[in-house]
Formats: sequence, C-alpha cells, structure tokens
Amino acid sequence: MNSVLPRVLIGLVALGGALWLGGALLEPSAPPAQQRRWTSSQDCQECHAEVYAEWEDSWHAKAYIDPDVREQSKEFSNTDCIDCHAPKPVFVTGVGKRVLPRADRRHEGVDCLSCHLLPNGDIAGTITSPSAPCRPVATVDLQRVDYCGVCHNQHKTVDQWRATHYAEEGTGCVECHMPHRDGDVNKGRYHQMAGGHDLGLIQGAISLRARRVAGAVKIEVENHSVGHAYPTDERSRASDVWWRPVDSEDWHHLYRIRDPYRYESDIPRTLLDAGETKVLVLDDPAASQAIEVMLVYKLSPYYRRPDTGEPISTSEVVDPLIDSQEVHRVLVPE
Ligand code: HEC
Ligand code: HEC
Ligand code: HEC
Ligand code: HEC
Ligand code: HEC
Repeated sequence: MNSVLPRVLIGLVALGGALWLGGALLEPSAPPAQQRRWTSSQDCQECHAEVYAEWEDSWHAKAYIDPDVREQSKEFSNTDCIDCHAPKPVFVTGVGKRVLPRADRRHEGVDCLSCHLLPNGDIAGTITSPSAPCRPVATVDLQRVDYCGVCHNQHKTVDQWRATHYAEEGTGCVECHMPHRDGDVNKGRYHQMAGGHDLGLIQGAISLRARRVAGAVKIEVENHSVGHAYPTDERSRASDVWWRPVDSEDWHHLYRIRDPYRYESDIPRTLLDAGETKVLVLDDPAASQAIEVMLVYKLSPYYRRPDTGEPISTSEVVDPLIDSQEVHRVLVPE
C-alpha cells in the first residue's frame, strides 16, 4: 500500500502540469467576446486612443473634407471621386478589387472600418484574439501592398514599387509609411502615414547636388530612399529646380519633375524613379558667377499671382517660394 500515495501524487503533479501548460496556451479563463456592431471610427477610440489620435491627424481622416479634393471634385458632384475618399471597407469589396463608395458618415474619410472591418463583423489585425472586445483576426492581406493598392495604384504607385529593390527585399508600403512606434516592434505601428505633406520625409529621401564642370554647372537630383517614383500617385504634385545668381532676387526655372494628367499631352512625364539620378546641365553666362540652386516641392503644380490667385507660367515667376516648400538649396561658388 505504501507505493500508492507517491504514484497518485506523481499523477496529480503530471495532470496539474498539463493543465498549467494548457492554461498558458489556451487561456480557457477568457471566453470569446460578444460580437459588437461597429458603426464609426469613434467606436474604436475608447480602447485605441493612441491609434485614433494618429489617424485623426492623418490625411486618411481628412480624405472627404480635404478642401483641395472638394474643389477638384466640385463638392463631390463628381461621384466617382467618393469611391476612395469615403470608401466601404476594403475587405468587404475585396483586396484586388476597386473600392466602392460608402453611403453614410462620409466625413470620416478613409476610417478605421474602411481598413479593418472584415465581412463577418470581426476586425482584421496582426493577431487572433477572440476574447478581445473587437475580436481581431490575424489577416495577412492587411500587410500586403495590394491592400494599399486598392486605392493607391490608380496612378501606379504599387507598380512603381514592384520595379524596385524594396520589392525584392520585401520592404512594403507599411515598412516606410507605418513605422513601429518609437522604433519598438512591440509597440504597434504609427497610423499618421506621412506623405507629400511632410517636408521632412521628402528632404530625407531626395538629394540635390551642384558643382562646376567644364565651364557649366552640373546639377543632380537623386531619389535615393523613396520606395517608388518621386513624386508619386497624385498628379497635382510637382517638384521644380530653380537657380539664381546670389546677387539677384529673381529665380529662373530649370526643370520640372512631374507626371502630367492625360489631357496635358504637351507636358512630358519626368518622374524620378526609385534610385534614379536626374543630371541637368546649366550652361548660361549668368551662371558663371556664384549661384544658388534650389529644389522645391509643390502640392499643386500651379504658381499663382499672390494678389489675384491667377495661375502664372514658370517663366514669369520670380519667387517660387510663394506656392512651394523648399526641399534643398545648394550654393555654387564662382
Ligand atoms: C481609385 C481611388 C481614388 C479615386 C477614385 C479618386 N482618388 Fe483622389 N486620391 C486617391 C489617393 C490614394 C490619394 C492620395 C495620393 C497622394 O496623396 O499622392 C488621392 C489624393 C487626392 C488629392 C490630393 C489631396 C491632397 O492632400 O493634396 C486630390 C485633390 C484628389 N485626390 C482628388 C480627387 C478627385 C477630384 C477625384 C475624382 C475625379 C478623385 N480624387 C478620385 C485615390 C483616389
Ligand atoms: C489606411 C488603412 C488603415 C487605417 C485608416 C487604419 N488602420 Fe489600423 N492598421 C492598418 C494596417 C495595415 C495595420 C497592420 C500593420 C502591420 O503591423 O503590418 C494596422 C494595425 C492596427 C493595429 C495593431 C497595431 C497597432 O498599431 O497597435 C490596431 C490596434 C489598429 N490598426 C487600429 C486602428 C484604428 C483604431 C483605426 C482608426 C482610428 C485604424 N487602425 C485605422 C491600416 C489602417
Ligand atoms: C472595448 C475595447 C475595444 C474596442 C472598442 C476596440 N478594441 Fe481593438 N482591441 C482591444 C483589445 C483589448 C485588443 C487586444 C490587444 C492585444 O491582445 O494585444 C484589441 C486588438 C485589436 C487589433 C489587433 C492588434 C494587433 O496587434 O494586430 C486591431 C487591429 C484592433 N483591435 C482594431 C480595432 C478597431 C478598428 C476597433 C473599432 C472598430 C476596435 N479595435 C475596437 C480592445 C478594443
Ligand atoms: C480605402 C482607400 C485607401 C486605402 C486602403 C489606403 N489609402 Fe492611403 N490614402 C487614401 C486617400 C483617399 C488619400 C488622400 C487623402 C487626402 O489627402 O485627401 C490617401 C493618402 C495617403 C498618403 C498621403 C499622405 C499625405 O501626406 O498626403 C499616404 C502616405 C498613404 N495614403 C499611405 C497608405 C498606405 C501605406 C496604405 C496601406 C497600408 C494606404 N494608404 C491605404 C486612400 C487609401
Ligand atoms: C523605402 C520607403 C518607402 C516605401 C517602401 C514606400 N514609400 Fe511611399 N513614400 C516614401 C517617401 C520617402 C515619400 C515622400 C516622397 C514622395 O512623395 O515621393 C513617399 C510618399 C508617398 C505618398 C505621398 C504622395 C503624395 O503625393 O503626397 C504616397 C501616397 C505613398 N508614398 C504611398 C506608398 C505606397 C502605396 C507604397 C507601397 C506600394 C509605398 N508608398 C512604399 C517612402 C516609401
């Protein structure tokens, strides 16, 4: 009889161990959460306040109220423009398919539900957690470039990316546009999604060099760190190279980097592809003295008269900074 007790004990210890292990793996104490019906991004705010604040500050949140979009779409009387600027959830229409316009809460633009709501009412995430209140389900499509591409490949940003070494290395849209908070992989991803409105992002990815070679000035603009063409997507964006003698107030236009609209058939496509360097030669007697060379970025391609707002041609512009942001400026001595 002596031998029974230890054997029972060993058995209990073994059973307990299995239960403990199972507990750690399966968390039987946490039952699946009740499914809730999500009707607005505000529903997510109470639990995901940090993400909500980042999104609220993003251009995704402003996609329907953005004054430039409202002007160009004639207050969305061009209903085609609603599709991507106030869309139904991407996972409802399907990755790889054109998004469809939403009927309600359009002022929320590209909202949490557009990007995260699954057809069954659960939430697409990077983890599966049935017990969490929003019932996230790990969804690989969420991290793929084609997911951003349902809205962002209209003007070929995803196709441009596919031709780069970033595509070969698997560095997708999310890697550059949604960096981990504080660089910590455990902290989730930043939802502000900076782009053309962030001058610092552009300054860090594009460089400008200028020096004298054989009597002329050789100017180089390099796209060294953008994962696609510069500028991309929105055809209203442009980037111009200007120069002036240092003792003059008036700038002269040298070159424009831009993808024109189809109807602008007289304007060439001059985008700077990823990794490409554009070499310009300035051979003008006025440039034999010390000069400044400046690269500017424009959210809208027009230069306008400050008094009337009328568009003016680059040959009439003397102050390109009235309508643009300075990316870089280089001094070329005599
Ligand atoms: C297929 C999706 C899609 C459709 C349809 C669409 N857009 Fe956009 N739009 C985008 C994306 C994506 C961006 C952001 C790209 C960028 O900033 O370069 C954008 C950006 C813009 C911008 C720039 C906003 C800014 O912040 O400066 C304007 C203006 C604009 N769209 C106007 C329109 C108009 C007008 C229409 C209808 C004729 C339209 N869009 C239809 C996807 C779309
Ligand atoms: C334009 C699409 C888009 C919008 C809008 C968007 N998200 Fe995300 N979100 C993503 C993507 C993509 C990921 C996954 C990134 C990864 O880790 O690969 C993600 C990740 C997350 C995560 C997990 C990682 C983290 O950052 O903590 C949470 C939580 C989240 N989103 C909540 C929200 C909420 C809440 C909103 C609205 C306030 C929102 N998202 C709006 C695309 C979006
Ligand atoms: C009542 C609180 C609550 C609400 C409301 C809520 N969530 Fe969550 N969410 C959580 C919790 C808790 C987790 C699990 C976090 C974990 O385990 O890391 C989670 C996880 C997630 C994840 C997965 C995180 C990852 O790392 O991939 C996403 C995405 C997400 N939520 C998005 C949303 C969106 C979008 C909404 C609004 C439609 C929303 N949540 C509403 C509490 C909430
Ligand atoms: C449902 C459509 C949609 C999806 C999906 C989407 N976007 Fe956007 N995105 C837009 C629209 C529309 C705009 C332009 C908003 C505006 O300025 O009016 C935009 C703007 C942007 C901008 C430009 C911000 C700026 O400074 O002008 C970036 C960067 C961006 N999106 C990145 C992403 C990334 C990365 C993904 C994938 C994780 C993604 N987007 C998914 C529709 C979408
Ligand atoms: C290697 C980093 C990198 C990768 C990968 C990348 N981008 Fe960008 N992206 C940038 C930088 C830097 C800018 C700012 C310069 C510019 O506007 O070209 C930018 C700008 C943008 C803009 C703003 C354009 C505007 O007119 O405001 C959009 C939209 C965008 N990217 C979408 C995407 C999408 C979609 C993908 C995935 C196919 C992607 N990006 C991949 C670095 C990257």
